[in-house]
Amino acid sequence: MSRSNVVERLVEGLKRLEYRGYDSAGVAITTDNLIDRRRAAGKIINLEAELAKNPLNGNKGIGHTRWATHGEAHAHNAHPHSSDKVAIVHNGIIENFADLKKDLQEKGHTFESETDTEVVVHQITDFLTTNNDPLLAVKQTLKKLHGAFSLVIIFKEYNDLMICTRSGSPLVLGYSEEDIYVGSDALALAAWTQDLVYLKEKDLAVIKDEGQHFSVTIYDEQDIIVERPHHQSRLNIDAVNKGSYNHYMLKEIYEQPFVIGETFNSLVENSTHVPHVIRETLTQLPLAEVNRIAIIACGTSYYAGMTAKYWLESYAKISVDVDIASEFRYREPLITQYDLVIFISQSGETIDTLSALRLVKEQNVKVASILNMPESSMARESDYVIQTQAGPEIGVASTKAFTCQLLTLAMITLQAAHAKGHLSTKKLEEELNTLLHLPSKILNVLQHDEAIQEISKQFVEKRDVLYLGRGTNYPIALEGALKLKELSYIHAEAYPAGELKHGPIALIDHQLPVVVLAPYDKWFEKTLSNVQEVIARGAYVVAITDTKGAALFKNQGMKNTHIIEIPIENHMLVSPIAYSIPMQLLSYYTAYFKGTDVDQPRNLAKSVTVE
Ligand code: G6P
Repeated sequence: MSRSNVVERLVEGLKRLEYRGYDSAGVAITTDNLIDRRRAAGKIINLEAELAKNPLNGNKGIGHTRWATHGEAHAHNAHPHSSDKVAIVHNGIIENFADLKKDLQEKGHTFESETDTEVVVHQITDFLTTNNDPLLAVKQTLKKLHGAFSLVIIFKEYNDLMICTRSGSPLVLGYSEEDIYVGSDALALAAWTQDLVYLKEKDLAVIKDEGQHFSVTIYDEQDIIVERPHHQSRLNIDAVNKGSYNHYMLKEIYEQPFVIGETFNSLVENSTHVPHVIRETLTQLPLAEVNRIAIIACGTSYYAGMTAKYWLESYAKISVDVDIASEFRYREPLITQYDLVIFISQSGETIDTLSALRLVKEQNVKVASILNMPESSMARESDYVIQTQAGPEIGVASTKAFTCQLLTLAMITLQAAHAKGHLSTKKLEEELNTLLHLPSKILNVLQHDEAIQEISKQFVEKRDVLYLGRGTNYPIALEGALKLKELSYIHAEAYPAGELKHGPIALIDHQLPVVVLAPYDKWFEKTLSNVQEVIARGAYVVAITDTKGAALFKNQGMKNTHIIEIPIENHMLVSPIAYSIPMQLLSYYTAYFKGTDVDQPRNLAKSVTVE
């Protein structure tokens, strides 16, 4: 809500939210007893083209960029949705929309989209027609909605009013001298205001033009007027640009030596001085007392958690369970006061992970979160927050955030092992020294960029690719397969190399490339035998290994094998981080040569805030 035209700012803010989805976008304004809107399928650039053709002006408006849930990615399903009385933008899912829609249709309402959102529009319109009270109509509607949602509503006949509310999905208010902003993420507002108020669960805010100024009244779940604290945002939008790189993803891959170093520095005092002192962020974790650690995450973050299981069990002798958040939250998990539950999320907003976190907190168990976004819902709701220093990650496929998560988990492992008495101070110092030098090792791996480009060219025409790894590199193989799928749309699967003979070996023929992660570690000999098995069946193998491993591969005179030699010594904490880099480059270049949309692959969103 502003004293000047808001449309350009709405579009600018939406661009910063495009990581939430890019299936369609739209804006609507309310002015002089009129609601007007522009919408377009696809990315925000299409909305900009629409606005260039048919400009829109107004001082009070709403905007949305969509990740399709109910209804295809067409303009008619794009938000804002509107009736002759209201327009709405919505994040989340209205789970009982089908029942509400049926009732409303029986009352004569006609729908123009397949979305769940449109029932909110018609439900508010329905109440408004009878009671002529916008606030009451919204409150009555909210009582009927099931699911997780945040909503912002403007009214045709009440141009001085905007109502917003959240239940499950996040919503933040931004205050500036002139204007009031509302967004589902502080990043969307960062260009205009740092003065933020995060709405609490089930809060409803009424923003009103009082003539001389704008007022904001917040009602809590009990319908009582409340004050919520103001926060000063420290987000810096200048950090978000591509530089000279073709894609954000490549830039982010190349930033890894720096951000890994930054993450290390954030966890260790005076990182270049010996002996190293681990900072309170980690020492305050109750690691000495815990019997068990549960790690919960989604997507790439989940694979970081899987890697940590190998580390924590080996170094700290703590039993670790790793769960996918959407499974954990619905399977009546057993968590006790003696457990530490660690959540991992780049965004801190993934709804499945956030809901799992809330489930654990309801049981009065302490939670620690490893997050890249300090101003996120999970950061606000966790007992301990360990922030990675990856910086804004724009490419939808996670790269630098993943390796920073791994480094953080490696540090937690060392702290836990030391706290439990399984790692002497001298050994701890040696391990920290190894991690201190990780950035130069990553730089070394990045020098294989060109060799990986050549292999990627051969992957472009493939239909399937199989990834194999053992131990700590099994989750990295999983991550490699996920990256290839999401970026190049080539079907890829990862298996623990030892499991190959129990099924996937049936897939192998001369068409199938097999990527094998094989550092010279305790699993190497076994992996080498598995590679022989796939070569014997005609597969083409890309082996990623170190100098010792490469010599042994060559020794065995393997046919059809392309070796990428990464000349760094094998180390249990270093190897999975280092081997993530070729996985990232392989999927980046395969997608690049195939010509897919690397930074915004089809159907995906960076942060999935619906179930
Ligand atoms: C989405 C993204 C993935 C990411 C996952 C978890 O699916 O496309 O790249 O790994 O969400 O996200 P989080 O922000 O919780 O780490």
